[in-house]
Amino acid sequence: MRHLLDIDDLSPDELRHIVEQAKRPPESLEPVLDRQGVACYFEKPSARTRNSTELAVVQLGGHPVYITDSEVGIGTRESPEDVTRTLACYHRVICARVFDHGLLERMAGLDVVPVVNLLSDGAHPLQAIADVLTVEAEYGSMAGRTVTYVGDSNNVTRSLALAVGMLGGSIRISSPPGHRFSAVDRDRLSAAGIEPEEVDRPEDAVKGADVVYTDTWVSMGQEGEREERLQAFEGFTVDERLMALSSTAIFLHCLPAHRGEEVTDGVLDGDRSRVWAQAANRLDAARAVLHWICGQSGEAGSVEGQPR
Ligand code: CP
Ligand code: NVA
Repeated sequence: MRHLLDIDDLSPDELRHIVEQAKRPPESLEPVLDRQGVACYFEKPSARTRNSTELAVVQLGGHPVYITDSEVGIGTRESPEDVTRTLACYHRVICARVFDHGLLERMAGLDVVPVVNLLSDGAHPLQAIADVLTVEAEYGSMAGRTVTYVGDSNNVTRSLALAVGMLGGSIRISSPPGHRFSAVDRDRLSAAGIEPEEVDRPEDAVKGADVVYTDTWVSMGQEGEREERLQAFEGFTVDERLMALSSTAIFLHCLPAHRGEEVTDGVLDGDRSRVWAQAANRLDAARAVLHWICGQSGEAGSVEGQPR
């Protein structure tokens, strides 16, 4: 049984396979979820992820069931393990957006049903696959391209760095002190053969880049640190002046954008922005991941050797 908690759960070949499958028309993929359920568990809000995941399930012939924490009460009404075992009785896959990445590891650790990360504090792998699709639609290949990320080194950055590096691109990151990758993050990237270039000044980081990428300075769950973060990230806004330092780079943002904070209206709505293509690519990424993961494991509903 396979899970996708972050991009490095895949080999580079598997990542390439998923990216290529994502480029195929939906009707050309076998409906591997034929009449089966997919649990879509959300502890945080979502526009792109919920909609793209639910539609991807339908395109593969399955039925998505949206579940919130207030309903199932993981850790309050029932243990994470018992909720996972219960959902495995009905669903072919559990897709989950959680605060604590450790919860995904507990769910996946049971190996009763494939678990797909729909964003945690640690990672956002489906986003990174959509990001690759957007870069490859523009440039043909990720190999040899330089992606510069400006802002908070967060869940999105970790998965992006893995995906870019595993497909032969270079990742350059400019974050203020205190908001850079930890030693643990660097070790993990290093284990995948990836050494991100850290550049202090965003102005230096964007020069020669093919892609300039940013994300919010205040991720979901960090709202209490908002004022302190806005101060820390002063000077890291991706604005027209910064984009002008790289004459041809496209602009990406996972969204939701905080206009006037990490990005200006002029950049987000400008000629070099590809954010709506990027959002649309979330559907292709979700479908390809679900298709792949269903090919890696058996049928739903056989928890701990208790056949139905
Ligand atoms: N990019 C992304 O994950 O968007 P949502 O939070 O709206 O799902
Ligand atoms: N880093 C952001 C991404 C939102 C899609 C967050 O975790 O809130």
